Amino acid sequence: MRLVLVLAVLLAAEAAKVLKDPSEMALVLDEDEFEAYLDEWLEQEQSKLPQAPPYSRGCTFKINGDLGQPQPVYLRFDSIGRVHRYLAAEGNIGQIHVNHKEPVVIACPEQVIQNVATTREVATAICENNNLVSGAGWLNGNRAFGELTCSAHLRPVIYDPNRSCWNGHSVILVGYNVTGIFYQLYGACFDQNLMQSLYVWYDQTPAHAVHQTRVPRPSTWQPETFFPGVNLNTLYTQASQRNVLGGHVGQELAGRYITRTNQRFLAKGHLAAKSDFVFASAQRATFFYINAAPQWQCINAGNWNRLEQKLRARIAAAGYNTVIYTGTYGVVKLPDQNNRLVDIFLSQRQVPVPLYFYKVAYEESSQRGTAFITINNPHLPLAEAVRIADEICEDQCRRNSDFDWLTWEPDRVEIGYSFCCTVDDFRSSIPHLPRFQTIGLLY
Ligand SMILES: *[C@@H]1O[C@H](CO)[C@@H](O)[C@H](O)[C@H]1NC(C)=O
Ligand SMILES: *[C@@H]1O[C@H](CO)[C@@H](O)[C@H](O)[C@H]1NC(C)=O
Repeated sequence: MRLVLVLAVLLAAEAAKVLKDPSEMALVLDEDEFEAYLDEWLEQEQSKLPQAPPYSRGCTFKINGDLGQPQPVYLRFDSIGRVHRYLAAEGNIGQIHVNHKEPVVIACPEQVIQNVATTREVATAICENNNLVSGAGWLNGNRAFGELTCSAHLRPVIYDPNRSCWNGHSVILVGYNVTGIFYQLYGACFDQNLMQSLYVWYDQTPAHAVHQTRVPRPSTWQPETFFPGVNLNTLYTQASQRNVLGGHVGQELAGRYITRTNQRFLAKGHLAAKSDFVFASAQRATFFYINAAPQWQCINAGNWNRLEQKLRARIAAAGYNTVIYTGTYGVVKLPDQNNRLVDIFLSQRQVPVPLYFYKVAYEESSQRGTAFITINNPHLPLAEAVRIADEICEDQCRRNSDFDWLTWEPDRVEIGYSFCCTVDDFRSSIPHLPRFQTIGLLY
């Protein structure tokens, strides 16, 4: 029945040729429905972007149009001929440019490349022109880049670099291995005792303005080895949430806290968003439980989603090269039958429901950064939200025209009361991030 509603909304939009801003759907659609809607909406927004004139020489691959799925990993060589990094778009209009006769590695680790003359797991394609590549010994003649797909969706790998982050917690990296070398997409600082990522980090540049749309989600989220004895697939169901919470605050109150109406239930809140990554292969690597934390769906689809969208667009428009640290802090407390505040976890005493979700955007070259924070509790009275925001820092965004691009509704507790801090101020309350210096706000 819900699906019918979504289809009706999409069909109506199709007819009108314009989709409502996703923020208007925050209190209507659930997790999966919202993600599907967001994808349609982002596709609509991307179609409004200017199209650059094509280069007269070399190859141009459009992020939406010239990339096939199941998608290989694409790697580029450095100036002395070593494979060294993922292929990336240039500018902010969703196009990859490769020079005439430049080689690009096409890799399907543990699978084989499709539509080729000779079976290969990894091969080097040579740019001919437009969207065409050649491959001596494995391709007959030229082929469209997008026809080089993998025999199945690739499995991203988790890599333990044996490195620690804040307070002795462990760094975990996520990426792909190609011919025995690991290529990172994002990293996490993980607290194994609480089973919670303190933060994840990844790059955001203007190229992230346009991501590949119509990328199917993997069928399940992966716990890997990080959640022993805990079944997150079950714990994230609304029935389990009511049940576990009921053990702490009583079943009757739990039934009032966790409701489908107004999307007041805990969703798998992506830390690094699916749409923060350009390529299908990278987007699919976001579905690890170390990259999620319990977030009220009304907030996930509310101010948190606006922050994700607006910050990405701002980085693209301003030409910033940033690292984004997305993390969580604190534990949500809800009153029990005796009006005592109780810490809320997804399981008995593990996987806390964080009180704060934050994004710190930092640009190394300018040494500027800003911390954006959303309070993850739609049940708080406004005065209480204001009070616990003030405990973290002095807000920098309200009545500051430098942040006019951030069109969230920061005073609405039911979609996530929100505020911003200088990085120094943020650190004095939330000390988790690695050291870096800032000389001012990034806006
Ligand atoms: C991890 O690093 C520590 C030192 O930081 C070292 O003692 C240990 O042997 C390393 N473990 C592995 C598996 O490399
Ligand atoms: C990935 O590559 C790294 C070396 O860069 C290696 O240590 C690791 O075992 C590989 N992981 C998998 C799953 O193949």
